[in-house]
Parts: sequence; C-alpha cells; structure tokens
Amino acid sequence: MPLRSAGWFHSKDYYGFSRRAWLRSEGFQHEIFDGRPVIGICNSWSELNNCNLHLRELAGAVKRGVLQAGGLPLEFPTISLGEMFLKPTSMLFRNLMAMDVEEMITANPLDGVVLLGGCDKTIPAQLLGAISAGIPAITLPGGPMLAGLWRNRRLGGGTDGRKLFDQYRKGEIGEETWCEIEGSIARSAGHCTVMGTASTMALMAEALGMTLPGSAAIPAPDSRRAMIAEQTGRRIVDMVRENLTPDRVLTRPAFENAVRVFQALGGSTNAIVHLLALARRARVELNLDDFDHFSRSTPWLANIKPSGEFLMEDFFAAGGLPVLMRDLLPLLRPQAFTVTGQTVEANIASAECWDRNVLKPLAEPLNAEGGTLVLRGNLAPRGAVLKQTAASPELLRHRGRAFVFENYDDLRAKLEDPALPVDASTVLVLRNAGPKGGPGMPEWGQIPLPKVLLDRGVTDVVRISDARMSGTSFGTVVLHVCPESAIGGPLAAVRTGDEISLDAPKRSLRLEIPDDETARRLAAFAPPPAHYTRGYGRLFLDHVLQVDEGCDFDFLIPD
Ligand code: FES
Repeated sequence: MPLRSAGWFHSKDYYGFSRRAWLRSEGFQHEIFDGRPVIGICNSWSELNNCNLHLRELAGAVKRGVLQAGGLPLEFPTISLGEMFLKPTSMLFRNLMAMDVEEMITANPLDGVVLLGGCDKTIPAQLLGAISAGIPAITLPGGPMLAGLWRNRRLGGGTDGRKLFDQYRKGEIGEETWCEIEGSIARSAGHCTVMGTASTMALMAEALGMTLPGSAAIPAPDSRRAMIAEQTGRRIVDMVRENLTPDRVLTRPAFENAVRVFQALGGSTNAIVHLLALARRARVELNLDDFDHFSRSTPWLANIKPSGEFLMEDFFAAGGLPVLMRDLLPLLRPQAFTVTGQTVEANIASAECWDRNVLKPLAEPLNAEGGTLVLRGNLAPRGAVLKQTAASPELLRHRGRAFVFENYDDLRAKLEDPALPVDASTVLVLRNAGPKGGPGMPEWGQIPLPKVLLDRGVTDVVRISDARMSGTSFGTVVLHVCPESAIGGPLAAVRTGDEISLDAPKRSLRLEIPDDETARRLAAFAPPPAHYTRGYGRLFLDHVLQVDEGCDFDFLIPD
C-alpha cells in the first residue's frame, strides 16, 4: 500500500520539489525520501504543564526507536492542557486540543503518529483527534510523578493535599509547615501519582489496547519509561506497514475491557466522560448503563488512593495493569485486538504479581462491586454517577434536606460562614456547574465541607452537582447530574429545605417533592446569562453535548 506521505514528497512537480527542499533544510539527506514511513511524534510538552515537562526528552527515545525500525521521526507540538493552571477548567479545552491534534495529523505528511501526553485531558484529547484522523496511532503516556515525600511521609498528589488542607484550615498545621508541604508534595515531572484522572486515562489507553502493555504505570523519571518509549517508536513503524489504524483496535470489546478495568481500578469518574466521547468518535455503541452494568459484576481490585492506600509507584512495582488484566481475564474480552498486533490475552500472558496488598486477586477483592455506579431518578433523568469506593458507606442510603448553592461564587462566599444552617444530615447541592453552566463542567463537585461542619468534626456529607470531580477526590459525591441545571434540568428546581433521597444500592436519586411542583418551578426557569458571546468559548457553548454523550462537540461526531 502506498505511503500517505508519498503524496507530499514523491511527486515530480514543483510542489514535490519544494516540500523535499524545505524538509531537507532541517539537515536531512535525500535518502529520507526512499519510501520510509514518516512518523509524527505529537507532543504536548509545555512549561505550563508540569505533568508533561519531561516529554521532549521522552520524544528523543521515541525517535531512536523510529530510526532503528527504518522510519523518519518528526516531532510536532500541539496545545497542552495543564490541569493546575487552566481556568475556568481544562475540560473547556479538551475538544479544542482534540481538533488541534486531528487537524495537524491530517494536514501534514504523516504515515503514523505516536501520541505523547500525560495529565488529565491530554491523553483523551489526543485519542479523540487520532481516531478522527484515522492513520495508525499509538499512545505513549508520560507516566506518574514520584510519590510526594514530606519528612518521612509519602504523599499522594491531590488526595493527601486535600486532607492536609483541611487540617490547615482548622489551624492544626501552621504556615511554615504548610510551606514545607508545598515544596514536598510534587517531586518530579509526571502526572499525579494517585488513581486520579491522569492515571486512570493512561490506564484506559492501555486497557483499550492503544499502548504497549505495561506502558501506563512506569514512573515518569524511571529509565524504563525511556525504554518503552524506544519500543513504542519501533512499533509504530511496523504498525504503518501493517496499516494498523485505530478503528481496528477501538471496537466494542476494547471498550468493554476498558469499562471493566475502570471499575476494577476504582478509577476517576472523569474517565466515564472521556470513554463515552471516545466511543462515539469510534462509532462504538457505549452508554452510561454499560458502566452500571459492568460495575455490578466487576470487583474493585486496585488498592490505590484516593479509594485505597497505595500510590502509582506501588501499582507499577506490583506488576501494573498487565497483572490486573490477567486477574480480570475471566471477565474480559480476551480476543480484543491491540496495537501490538496481538490480542489482549496474548499481551498479558506472562504477567506476574509482586504485591497482593496493592493488586488484589479476583477471589479476594476490596469490594464486590466496581468503583462507580450510575444513579437515575427524577433528579437525574439522564443519569448521575457516584464513586462508591471513595464514599462513606453509611451515607450510601441517605435522606436529608438540601442546602443549595446557586453557583460556584455563591459556594465560595458561604463556605466559611459560621452561621450556615447545615448539619451532618444536610445534602449540599451545587448547580450551574455543568458543561454549559460552569462552563466546561469544572471539577467543583467535591463541594468542600463548610467550616461550620469541619469545626463539629463532620468528615463527609452527601453532595450533589452537575459538575465533575477531580479523580484525586473522595467523599459521598454525586456528580454529572444530567441534564444540567443551566439548560433547565431538574437540578434547577431544587430549593433549600427540599428533601432529597439517595439510595445507591437501588441506583436511585430523587427530589422528594410532588412532580407537579417540580414542573411548576421548571416552567418559571430562566437560563443564566451565557459565559461567552464570541471566540472559542462561544463555539463551545453552541456545540457542546451533555455529559451522558461525553461532552464532545456535535459537529465532531462522525456521520
Ligand atoms: Fe496533571 Fe494532576 S495536575 S495529572
């Protein structure tokens, strides 16, 4: 099969000449036009994204591999989405990055592409773009950062940071110590080292079959990451020769495997949004009910924070995802095809576990059910999610009166109020935090406990919103309420003092007022003013789909 890049470089006309000449200006000999595959290294390196800071060096290892296999590597940048800095939320820009990746792949003389990313949104954005571009593609995750180390205590990114912050708010930790923790909690490049969104999405890419086996969990500074980068560079050249395009990997069995693995990991709820979007791009049927269906029959096995005790370094040392998938094999679709050219079953055949405290066997799970369940009811007709492994068991069945925050500014204004009328039975509600209302569905869903509750020693209450939640967070937190309040979903009808009932075992979330009263309130609903009237923000508001459809843009979904 002729190479795609030949259309740029092999023509005898003036444009063929000038394209060859301009590429040779980078210092190449004419031999590079001998029919070798041109491999793009799509790199989200940025100093505005510490999680991706090491990706230039890693690209060097990929290049070695591409050259060894007889390809021509050409590295190119895209926008990068750093979770810590982007306002109002990196999720606002996932689709923008996906469009950047897709257009740069399709517009350039590339035969295959290595997707180099880390942090929460870069891997899903790159996969979305690569699916739509349709040429052979393989993901190389950047890997988790080293575990935080404060004095003799190992700390896991957002999870321990949030716990320590509550101690700081209560005055149990002083300013000097707090500054010391600030310098100790994030010790290297790489993404957060708990089972947050970045770890989960790297592992989803591996579970989908889009990485080499074992790629996701190797720590960012570990020399073995450079080794697998080199192997990835070699493999993409062969993938071009085999015309191994993403549609051959991203099938319904691959997504079923990813959803099973997601549940067994106790992974970040954000993965649901991204997997739904990826499936639609790949023309694979997948919906919220699949997540609930598989949660009931997939045990939780990975003992990693925030749901468990350990960190990603421990997950890697215990054997990583190949072990977890081998343990799960009776529940997986073993014949799913992967970028190795082999099946999942063949890829993980030799996996061995080195620490059963970290990766539990199927017969002794941490919980009989998987991490995240799907709720429905009159408050969430199109669904909502709850990460049960990070919740307080005694709150999974709860009925209480709502206290409503109208939006995030209202929440921030009231959080420290010593007279806030809430108690341990209150259900905290935050609205106007969804895809259009946030905008971009920010990670505001783990509504911080009001100070008045912290002072009384309360450690968790039921919280409900149309927001997302950081994968590093924990608590009895109902998220992704759909449809969102800003377009008149039932969440817009809730008033402070209304009773809300949550019954997680029955998958139910209800506003306990008469239906006609809800309808009366919603008839008087007026949407909040739009956040943007121009630019990318306007494009986002005009075209973003609801969370049960993955928050992709309507015009990016294939026919
Ligand atoms: Fe990048 Fe957590 S901030 S993964």
